[in-house]
Amino acid sequence: MGKVRTILTVLALGVVLTLTGCAQTQTDTAQTDVTRAVAVLHPTQGNNVFGTVTFTKVQNGIRIVADVSGLTPGMHGFHIHQYGDCSAPDGTSAGGHYNPHGVPHAGPDDDPRHVGDLGNLNANQNGQAHYERVDNVIAFSGGNNILGHGMIVHAGEDDLTSQPTGAAGARVACGVIGIAQPEGGM
Ligand code: CU
Ligand code: ZN
Repeated sequence: MGKVRTILTVLALGVVLTLTGCAQTQTDTAQTDVTRAVAVLHPTQGNNVFGTVTFTKVQNGIRIVADVSGLTPGMHGFHIHQYGDCSAPDGTSAGGHYNPHGVPHAGPDDDPRHVGDLGNLNANQNGQAHYERVDNVIAFSGGNNILGHGMIVHAGEDDLTSQPTGAAGARVACGVIGIAQPEGGM
């Protein structure tokens, strides 16, 4: 009997340690220490728009750098959308603009604005756009957390005023914002 009890105690202890180990692992992968995120953009059906968007934590916010190709020259609405779901051929599965606080659509420098309102990409004559700005609304944790949400580029210009989407038209590229390896982490 004594031996059985000892074995049971050891087994129980093992279960407790295993559970504690799992809890520890979950804490380790929490999103509080994320410093970098990335979205790889793929074209929606009938388009040829590719690109990469990186989000890097800096002293005064999050630096967004986007390089996108295959666009028509000119302005293209550029937003974070509610869902990280690019499964629909036209990108509509990404839902509307990421707007956790239920405020009107606006431009990136307006307050209030949708958390996802990043304004426009400006493509040159070769259809390439480079976008760079430091944003202090988006975040990697809390109520403005962008991780896991969608990244959309539109066929037309976001006029920064029309509700609820800036009248930017169809979606030409879609991506999902995921956690990236910290800079210099390789
Ligand atoms: Cu959009
Ligand atoms: Zn918006």
